[in-house]
Amino acid sequence: MTVPTDLSRTDVIEAALARLDLDAKTRLLAGQDLWSLPALPEIGLASLVMSDGPVGVRGSGWTPDDPSLTLPSPTALAASWDPELARLAGRVLAQEAHRKGVHVLLAPTINLHRSPLGGRHFEAYSEDPLLTARIGTGYVTGVQESGVAATLKHFVANDAETERFTVDNHVDERTLRELYLAPFEEIIAAASPWLIMSAYNAVNGSTMTEHRALQAGVLRGEWGYDGVVVSDWLAARDTVRAIDGGLDVAMPGPHTVFGPALATAVRAGKVAEETVDAAVRRVLLLAARLGLLAGAAPAVPAPLRPSAVSGAACAREIATRSFVLLRNDPQVLPLNPTRLGGPRSLNPAGIGGIALIGHAARHARILGGGSATVFPRSVVSPLDGLRAALPEGTPLTWVRGADLSDGLSPASDGFTLRAVLRDASGVVRGEQPLPDGRIRWMAETLPGGADFDAVDSVELVGTFVPRADGPHEFGTRGLGTFRLTIGDATVYDGVHRPADADPLAAITGPPVARGAVDLVAGEPVEVSLLASDPKMTYGSLRGVTFGLAHREPIGQDDELIEEAVAAALAADTAIVVVATTETVESEGFDRGSLRLPGRQDELVSRVAAANPRTVVVVNAGAPVEMPWRDDVAAILLTWFPGEQGGAALADVLLGRAEPSGRLPTTWPGRLDEVPVHRVTPQDGVLRYDEEGFIGYRAWQRHDSKPAYPFGFGLGYTGWEHEHIELDEARTVRVRLRNTGRRHGRTVVQLYVAPADRATADCPPRPERWLAGFTSASADPGQTAQVEIPLPERAFQVWDTTAGSWRTVPGRYIVHAAHDAATPTLATELHITG
Ligand code: BGC
Repeated sequence: MTVPTDLSRTDVIEAALARLDLDAKTRLLAGQDLWSLPALPEIGLASLVMSDGPVGVRGSGWTPDDPSLTLPSPTALAASWDPELARLAGRVLAQEAHRKGVHVLLAPTINLHRSPLGGRHFEAYSEDPLLTARIGTGYVTGVQESGVAATLKHFVANDAETERFTVDNHVDERTLRELYLAPFEEIIAAASPWLIMSAYNAVNGSTMTEHRALQAGVLRGEWGYDGVVVSDWLAARDTVRAIDGGLDVAMPGPHTVFGPALATAVRAGKVAEETVDAAVRRVLLLAARLGLLAGAAPAVPAPLRPSAVSGAACAREIATRSFVLLRNDPQVLPLNPTRLGGPRSLNPAGIGGIALIGHAARHARILGGGSATVFPRSVVSPLDGLRAALPEGTPLTWVRGADLSDGLSPASDGFTLRAVLRDASGVVRGEQPLPDGRIRWMAETLPGGADFDAVDSVELVGTFVPRADGPHEFGTRGLGTFRLTIGDATVYDGVHRPADADPLAAITGPPVARGAVDLVAGEPVEVSLLASDPKMTYGSLRGVTFGLAHREPIGQDDELIEEAVAAALAADTAIVVVATTETVESEGFDRGSLRLPGRQDELVSRVAAANPRTVVVVNAGAPVEMPWRDDVAAILLTWFPGEQGGAALADVLLGRAEPSGRLPTTWPGRLDEVPVHRVTPQDGVLRYDEEGFIGYRAWQRHDSKPAYPFGFGLGYTGWEHEHIELDEARTVRVRLRNTGRRHGRTVVQLYVAPADRATADCPPRPERWLAGFTSASADPGQTAQVEIPLPERAFQVWDTTAGSWRTVPGRYIVHAAHDAATPTLATELHITG
């Protein structure tokens, strides 16, 4: 097959456009349902299917029936500091997309970590625009070289969730360019993503789907972007302002501001037909690139086919490479299996082996919540992983340690539930088992093919076998009229529809406590949650989404903690897995604190006091406070590690692999020390008053120090930077030596600092900033040499008066560094303007 030149592809697109009438053209710019654009057989155009991202490909359903490979969280991918690994992630996800008939992956999320409280922090890469851009470039390249489209989201400054549909983020122009737009700009230049998703929020007074200056001006005009701009789901609000503001496709459909509403606006003379044509051309180009437009050869003639890359191996590799070792003192890691199997030296009363402690050690938290949710086929928990990897006979005990949550969790442990759909006359129209007590059905995918219009009520019904005596708390999730009964007790009978709820609260909102019932351990009880008006309709969205939540009796933690202390005392090594939950890190709301939920901090402190060889595994997508961090032997940060997390954890704990991740975001000690953390708008406005000073750029000029700096991470060996030099072409060469006793891998980071801070005629800049990085590996005692080019942009600022980038002349120090706070070697260069 010959690949057409741009001209012949253009010809095909123009010929197709010419054959479409206004109604067909406007139809193509609106979703036909939740996830797809319509086929137009008259021009040989097939339907185009989109799906979330970014850790898997969920597909058109939102149910465990359609499982996906589940990779580690984006924070984890960024912690690898390895664009090639991100590219591998992109390739394996494209494979998944092909398998599921998906053409467009709604990922990656490249908003910045402005505040650690951001609810979707786990879903973005970093606080640094350069690291974000490099990881994003790898990911997009991997997806698109495999014949699937990637979508950069969310354009732009969608860095928190509070009032996300309406918040107006006030960001000055220089900060926008140098920070928040920068990853979009670099990835577009380096990897040409075929779609950009326009965000919910407004920037400087205009909602993003209507932001002419940024979408038509910067994105298309200045950057020459030729791809499609698709709205975030429900973000398009006004037909004329959106199409004139540069939006191409309004999602989801079919009832949205494009489609028939757009045709009417054209006929009324409110929108020029050429504007519609330009958007249709871009959608046709996307379809051509994907091979969905007859006569136009796809951008990738022979895309990667399923099973070319092993998904499980890839998930395990990314997890392993992402883990960040924050502490190993005294050096307990890697664990020594021989010692674990033998008698315990530190406590003659002990039996040796490992005490594995924590709810998440058994029920692994592998991904963050919200639209990033996918359903893994199977999960390797830390307990599974260790059990499989430890030599036979090594004592390994698991205890829960503490309740994971301050509040309600999905009704899974001890529950056997199913959903029953009935019509108005009580006839059952469909049934489905619900492993986590949660219903997330869209109108098209009701169980048993039940007709959405015919469904009148949905009952979530089954049994619960309590694990503990005492008052068990129950709650509901979702909006509607509910009756909740536990045994004979009616716990709730009422309507839940708060006026100020996020429009997607039915899907993403947290559960609400409804009341407690005294239960006896081991005695099954009947459970029923009846939703009598279960159907949600919002704009185009039609579905049924609600669920049951539960909390164990409070006070049980005392016993659990004592049990954990006893297990730790009796073991050679205690491994405590602490975690956040879906009610902490998810879409639709921000975090109120950085504390670990429940009594996990107390658990760690008590275990560490009982056993000096305590390793804490932090299973969280974003920073958490670790008040016990100086009291434990080791801290290993595993992010949300994806479906193979437990296998990767065993690899790293037992030293089969090195934890070679580095922090992609500064890790604070306490929230009240974080220089930039506010996420709550005032009167609808969130001011980015700190300008470009977020993350390490802010900590540099701040009184307190973070717990661990940006870029930090230990390994199982040591490294010394021995020599740095810089050539005429501004390529930096660093020679480094592995000073430890095993093969290792590290990341060489380069930071640029102006030699004279107060350069005349230059706006304030950080003390130093990341200008390049690369990985290196070497055997013990051996050296490695790396080359890192310094980009011109590292020496530029956005000149608001001229409206362009300006190189700032002067002397600069280039530091090689282990992390943002630990420079090693330096060299100098002189930049001329
Ligand atoms: C999210 C997007 C996502 C979309 C579709 C929105 O709520 O912000 O990231 O792609 O839903 O699920």
